[in-house]
Amino acid sequence: MQLLDGKFLSSQIKSEIAIEVAQIKADGGKIPHLVAILVGNAGRSETYVASKMKSCEEVGMHSTLIRFDDDVTEEQLLQAVRDVNNNPDMDGLIVQLPLPKHVNPDRVMETIAPAKDVDGFHPTNIGRMAKGLPCYISATPQGILEMLKRYEIETSGKHCVVVGRSQIVGLPMSILMQRNEYPGNCTVTLTHSKTQNLPDICRSADILIAALGRPGFVTADMVKEGAVVIDVGLEKVPDATKKSGFALRGDVDFESVAPKAGYITPVPGGVGLMTICSLMQNTVKAAKREVYS
Ligand code: GUN
Repeated sequence: MQLLDGKFLSSQIKSEIAIEVAQIKADGGKIPHLVAILVGNAGRSETYVASKMKSCEEVGMHSTLIRFDDDVTEEQLLQAVRDVNNNPDMDGLIVQLPLPKHVNPDRVMETIAPAKDVDGFHPTNIGRMAKGLPCYISATPQGILEMLKRYEIETSGKHCVVVGRSQIVGLPMSILMQRNEYPGNCTVTLTHSKTQNLPDICRSADILIAALGRPGFVTADMVKEGAVVIDVGLEKVPDATKKSGFALRGDVDFESVAPKAGYITPVPGGVGLMTICSLMQNTVKAAKREVYS
């Protein structure tokens, strides 16, 4: 079993981005600038966004956080998005999800200019991804592709099973893994809550991507010997042995699955760290007008 080490890879990628940003600066180019819109302070969004902003500063990029209270109107939010769209100094924009119930997330995503949509959530970017055209790929799927690439994992002809059909991870992942390029060329099965015989399907996976948000869901009996197991889950679960009273747990029961897997991502220290790197890579591309000129 080999660990897919997100901690190691993300620090490597961060150094690469820092070098690129320093070069841009030396050449008198545009310093990449990421803007995040955060609504309210519930859940873990605040921590995630803070970590995104901090990572930008660490690699020499600019970052701006725009905050709204939970009672922000949809129109106020849309106006903030339009303002960022029209600001030539701001290269990339993310609106942290989830949004309060009274705001339609699709309307917000569709208002972000596709050229600044570094989260890859705009229908234009999703459509372009499906067609294999230049686009922003959303951060977590792109981080997973980067992991497969850097560990030189063979994907062609393999059976890739994705568990969970979220717009942010499962759906884009299933599209990406079937593309006619590396990493890709898999035979993909996208499974979800209505799937029958899920354990059987998982057991036939050469590459198993768990992104359903249920701690410890994937157990050893659902995994083929030598499979590549990618765990996208990250949930807080009570743990009396920890000082904080909780532990972070993925969708995969690591203890039982790891001895069987060929490769496996730990939680924490796996996919999560790759996500922020992808976001920064996309913001650099945005500043360089690499995807949309
Ligand atoms: N909420 C959970 N993951 C993400 C993400 O990748 N981007 C945004 N904007 N919100 C999220």
